[in-house]
Amino acid sequence: MRNRFVAILIIAMATLPATGAEKKPTTQPSEPLKIVWGPYLQNLTPKSVTVVWTAGEPSEGAVEFEAGAPKSGRTPPGKPFIPLPKEKYAQRKISPLSKDHEVTLTGLTPGQVYSYRVVSKKPGDGQAAACTTESFRTPTENPKSFCFAILGDTHTYKRSEELAERLIDESPRFILHVGDYGSRVVSGLLKPYKKVMRRFPMYMARGNHDSVKKHKQFVAMPGPGKDLYYSFRWGNARFISVDTNDRKGMQAGGEQYKWLENELKTTKEKWKFVFQHHPLYSAWGGKMDSRLDDERKLLEKYQVHVVFQGHMHNYDRSFPLRDNKVVETGGVTYITASGGCGAQECFPHAHRPWFVARQWRGEPFIGMCNVNGSKAIIQFMTSKGLLFDTLTLRLTEKEVPAAKSSGK
Ligand SMILES: [Fe+2]
Repeated sequence: MRNRFVAILIIAMATLPATGAEKKPTTQPSEPLKIVWGPYLQNLTPKSVTVVWTAGEPSEGAVEFEAGAPKSGRTPPGKPFIPLPKEKYAQRKISPLSKDHEVTLTGLTPGQVYSYRVVSKKPGDGQAAACTTESFRTPTENPKSFCFAILGDTHTYKRSEELAERLIDESPRFILHVGDYGSRVVSGLLKPYKKVMRRFPMYMARGNHDSVKKHKQFVAMPGPGKDLYYSFRWGNARFISVDTNDRKGMQAGGEQYKWLENELKTTKEKWKFVFQHHPLYSAWGGKMDSRLDDERKLLEKYQVHVVFQGHMHNYDRSFPLRDNKVVETGGVTYITASGGCGAQECFPHAHRPWFVARQWRGEPFIGMCNVNGSKAIIQFMTSKGLLFDTLTLRLTEKEVPAAKSSGK
């Protein structure tokens, strides 16, 4: 009986199709390596810049760069990512194995155009990906005049191409983003701005929709704020980004509050601009959060010129304010600049409050600020270039003492 069973089993096995173990092993072609986000610029100074990008898989990275505008024959900007071409750049700075890369180029020449590209290479199979050639210009040590842009709340608008094109046309030296910028990879809301961010650094304040993890991954700025709050100098101006989600830290005695006071007290720059997400004054939201009162008093004490803020998905600009009053001199101007969102929000019960100099809602918009010595002109315009607000500010004689006559 047992022999008969074995014979049946042998016949049955012989009639079975070949098993997987008997097949030749098949190798799945691996996904080509891609650069999934970036490159983009951070902390651009006269002699250095940080280049940030993310590859689809852990890879070795490098930034290849050289002085001068991109040469003809280099991959032109604006084309999609391409396989690694054999191009030789004058300098190369390596980044270790990782998905996320952050490389700081140092020893740059002030006021110089540089062309660059980033390269990621997988260890093992040698797959590589590179971005197209991009360029940036370092600022001079003390530019007397420069312009920067203001953008905010890009997290709700899926058709931001027009705003991005407007930014390219206006060609600011850098962009302040007042928060709620949207996920960089998952939702793709920042995708239209990729071309902008490769050429001009975009400095982000943390919005209520921007997680701490995401913000730290995004921002690459020096200082004790671990990317959540930071400041930088450009010419005769100090720019300070604060994290208004940190209500406790922003109250008197809080860690961020103490840092902010020290920044304002010790800065040598004449112009002081703060950018943050939650508004200290806004026409649209009724009463603002009293937990930020200590911050407001600090900004008034050290005579910050303008606070750029977001969150309310519309535009408004205050008169110069101090101690909750409109003042002729020494006041702070608060501008809510949430122009990156598509549908400007409707607040049916909003009415024009006493502190509002201009309010507006309509199309998506950007701001441009031209600083020229002791004068700053701030303009806000729609993506089509329609101007709807202009403000001129001047440093006071106390801030810029008149040059003494030499008597000769
Ligand atoms: Fe928002």
